[in-house]
Amino acid sequence: MEDALNKAKILLEAMPYIKKYHSKKVVIKCGGNVIFDDKLMDSISTDISLMKYVGLNPIIVHGGGPEISAFMKKLGMKVEFVDGLRVTDEETMEIVKMVLVGKINKRLVSRLNLHGKLAVGLSGDDGNLIMAKKKMVEKDLGYVGEVTSIDVEIMEDLIADNFIPVIASLGVGKKGESFNINADNVAGEIAKAVKANKIIFLTNIEGIYENFEKMENLISVLKIPDCQKILDSGRISSGMIPKLEACLLALQGGVERAHILDGRIPHALLLEIFTDEGIGTMIKKNG
Ligand SMILES: Nc1ncnc2c1ncn2[C@@H]1O[C@H](COP(=O)(O)OP(=O)(O)O)[C@@H](O)[C@H]1O
Ligand SMILES: [Mg+2]
Repeated sequence: MEDALNKAKILLEAMPYIKKYHSKKVVIKCGGNVIFDDKLMDSISTDISLMKYVGLNPIIVHGGGPEISAFMKKLGMKVEFVDGLRVTDEETMEIVKMVLVGKINKRLVSRLNLHGKLAVGLSGDDGNLIMAKKKMVEKDLGYVGEVTSIDVEIMEDLIADNFIPVIASLGVGKKGESFNINADNVAGEIAKAVKANKIIFLTNIEGIYENFEKMENLISVLKIPDCQKILDSGRISSGMIPKLEACLLALQGGVERAHILDGRIPHALLLEIFTDEGIGTMIKKNG
């Protein structure tokens, strides 16, 4: 009996959050390292399904860097990055599409659908969801793209039909060509376009460290004006740069809160959304 009462208490504690986020859209970006791990993926899929069943509208965006690299190596292909961006020639683009859409997206969708008829997989060219153009940087990176526009219609339709859109971070160009786009960037653009309430990055580190080299001083709250300072200071590098940029983009686009969470913590999503427990780094507008 005591056990049952405790369970009821836990549910009641979650009620203010369930109420607050009811029918709100939450974009969740699952990092490549997190979805590489089967066990983690199972627990994340369970959390996302629960969120859906209690009335939130999650939208999932995923990358797949480590798995794409692993597959390329298996095929004896050269894996090359410049400033964190994968050099993507035509052959590499084919592999990116195969792994991202055929493997990772389908795996995520099937994991979620173990909990019910919940998820539908999409990539950039479905309903012209993610239009893109070539990203111009010093070196020619081939089919590395950046978002030019997001068409929300297909996502909105799926949400209205009670589905969770699961989006692979591929864009489509004017001539129908595919582009490989950083998934953080896609998540930020989507959160802005659908006017999400929250954007959450599930990654492989506790949050943003003030001093990353020594892993000292985890930043728990950041305000928008500080984000630019941190970006300019060089205190963050590699994969954290597009994440913080995407947080900024989303918040400036009207999203209320952005979170960078450790996806390795069991049920990090539930802790963040349904409890007072503040984990990881939260980024908010002001005050
Ligand atoms: N200041 C910082 N604080 C925390 N992580 C940082 C920082 N600067 C760089 N990083 C790196 O960013 C990585 C997260 O980005 P990334 O590897 O692209 O993961 P994801 O697959 O989730 O996109 C961390 O594992 C860490 O190596
Ligand atoms: Mg990354």
